[in-house]
Amino acid sequence: MCRPTHFRVDYSINPWMDPTKPVDTALAVAQWEQLRALYLELGHTVELIEPLADYPDMVYAANGATVVDGKVLGARFRNPERAGEGPAYLEWFRAHGYQELHDPVHVNEGEGDFLVTGSRVLAGKGFRSTPESHAEAQEFWGRPVVSLDLVDERYYHLDTALAVLDGDEVMYNPAAFTPASRALLEELYPGAIHAEPSQAAVFGLNAVSDGKHVVLPEAATGLAAQLRERGYEPIGVDLTELLKGGGSVKCCTLELRPAAA
Ligand code: ARG
Repeated sequence: MCRPTHFRVDYSINPWMDPTKPVDTALAVAQWEQLRALYLELGHTVELIEPLADYPDMVYAANGATVVDGKVLGARFRNPERAGEGPAYLEWFRAHGYQELHDPVHVNEGEGDFLVTGSRVLAGKGFRSTPESHAEAQEFWGRPVVSLDLVDERYYHLDTALAVLDGDEVMYNPAAFTPASRALLEELYPGAIHAEPSQAAVFGLNAVSDGKHVVLPEAATGLAAQLRERGYEPIGVDLTELLKGGGSVKCCTLELRPAAA
């Protein structure tokens, strides 16, 4: 995670960002601290990366890299405003003893567009990450990478449209995908939770699950009810200040997946 010490909205690279709207950085920090405290309470370890003053979006740690089997695929950002974040995250991994690192050739925005399930990696494209980056990721990890096409600019990263709940269980917003990608998801995940548009609109799919607890924006009460029905324990958090940058729970969380022992 990356503390939003320098969080502000002074440029716009997604429809949620309005630089004319005031942002309360102290409130963003307080909300983020609550998310961090919750992870600790749930028994997870939280590592921190030092926030850089020139990169107000760096709080969205999910975008910084993707780690599968301890192998770190660095990020290469589409927008120049975030360009420096990729190298900063890669450096963090290098300094923390990760040995298999790949500095990417093609644009990919980390776990914003790569979501790791039990048997494959789901990969978003259409707004940020490129199709070439999906092939690059598959080659690097040696795991099947399945490309999905995003169509709604409000859901510009895959992690705003779909969340992995456990192994090969996912929940998603069908309306965020092309008909072909929707058909593919239906085939791969029959019976998956489909989020209502109203739940997607409060960033309900930008969730983090440990297989039992699902941490999601507290406004997504309908989705929380659907999760409860399936036996999950939804936990709502308030990250509304960070939503002004177009991100919530998952965006603030980069998952460290070690190599199998
Ligand atoms: N302002 C950031 C951007 O547009 C938000 C990134 C949100 N992160 C995410 N994983 N969806 O790039």
